[in-house]
Amino acid sequence: MDDIRSTFHDLYGREPECSATAPGRVNLVGEHTDYNGGFVLPTVIPQRTTVELARRPDGLVCAWSANVAEAASQYHLGHEAREGRWIDYVQGVTSVLAAAGHALCGVDIRIDSSVPLGSGLSSSAALEIALLRALRSAFTLDIADVPLARLGQRAENEFVGAPCGVMDQMACSLAEDRVALFLDTRSLEFERVPLPAGTDLVVVNSGVSHHVAGADYATRRRECEEAARLLGVPQLRDLDVKDLDRLAGLPDTLRRRARHVILEDQRVVDAVAAMRAGDRRRLGDLFYASHASMRHDYEVSIPEIDLLVDLARKDPRVHGARLTGGGFGGSIVALAEEGTGREVGERVVREYGARTGRQATVLVPAPVDLDPDPRARAAPAREP
Ligand code: GLA
Repeated sequence: MDDIRSTFHDLYGREPECSATAPGRVNLVGEHTDYNGGFVLPTVIPQRTTVELARRPDGLVCAWSANVAEAASQYHLGHEAREGRWIDYVQGVTSVLAAAGHALCGVDIRIDSSVPLGSGLSSSAALEIALLRALRSAFTLDIADVPLARLGQRAENEFVGAPCGVMDQMACSLAEDRVALFLDTRSLEFERVPLPAGTDLVVVNSGVSHHVAGADYATRRRECEEAARLLGVPQLRDLDVKDLDRLAGLPDTLRRRARHVILEDQRVVDAVAAMRAGDRRRLGDLFYASHASMRHDYEVSIPEIDLLVDLARKDPRVHGARLTGGGFGGSIVALAEEGTGREVGERVVREYGARTGRQATVLVPAPVDLDPDPRARAAPAREP
C-alpha cells in the first residue's frame, strides 16, 4: 500500500499534466426537493477534492486516493464494472463520458480530498466534478459547467447506483464561495444570491455517516413519485401551497412526504427573499421550519442531528439551524451572528460530545459577510 503522503511522482514516477479541484457543498434550504423538480439553495464549503492526472499511452486507468488506505486501483477503459467501492465514482465518470461520445485514453490519477466522506457535504459530487474538470482539461473536452454537472449525476445514478438528484453536482460545478446558488432543478436555471451581511455559517458534522445509495433515500424518492402519481401531476414540483388541501386524500405517509416537499420549495423561495432583504431572523426561522419538516414529515433526521440542532438553538447568537443534505446522519448548518461562528460550533461540539460520547467536528466557521453586489463577481472560470 502506498503511504498517505505519496505524491503523484511517488505513485507514477512522473509529474501530473493537470490538476483540478471541486468544493464540497452545504445546502442552506431545499432538501429532497431536487428529485421532485423543485428548488434548492446550496453554497460551497472551503473543503475541496483535488484530482491530479496524466495521460497514458494505453487504455488503462490507474487511480489512487489519499483518503482510503488502499493501493492504486486499475481498470481498462470500456470495461468499467461496478465494484461497490470508491473506484466506482471514477469508473462511472469515464463510462458516462464514453457514452456521451467523448474519446479518452488511459490516465494515471491521484485524488486527495478534505471533504469528509458520508457527512452530507457532497464528497462524491466533489470527486465527480474535480475528475470531470481534470479530464476536460487533459482531453480538451468541449463540456460547459452545467452539462458537466449532469454527467456527474449520470455517473452516480447510472453507474454507482445512487438515485440522487442534480443539486450536489450543480453546486460543486457552479456554486461560489460565500454566495448561494438558487437553482431550479427542473430547468437548471440559477441565480447567485449573497447571504445577508453580518452572519457566519457554521457546519457541524455529527460523525454519524450516511450513504445516499442507502435504501432510505431511494424509499423517499419512490414515495414522492407515488404521491405525484396519485395526485395526477408529473412531479411534486407541479403543486404549491395552494394545493395543500389536495393532499388530504393521500395515505398518511405519502401526505407527509408531499407536504414536506411542497412547503420546502416555498421555503427556498422565501429564503431567497429573506436574503435579498437582509433579514437574518426570517432566514433563521426558515432553517428551523425546514428542520422540523425533515424531522416529522420527511423523517430523515436522527436523534444525534436533532440534538445538534437543539444545542445550536439554545445559543442566542444563532438565528437558525437545520439538518443539511440527504439525512440519516451527516451534518447540520447553522446561521449565527458574525464573528461567533467558531465559538458557537465549538460549544455545540463540546456539549454534543458530553451527551453522546461522539466526536462532532466544526467544518465551516466561515464569515459570510458578502459582496452586496453579485454582478461584481465574475462568471465562474473553468478550471485549468
Ligand atoms: C443528497 C442527494 C441530493 C439531494 C439531497 C437531499 O445530497 O445527492 O441530490 O437529494 O440528498 O436534498
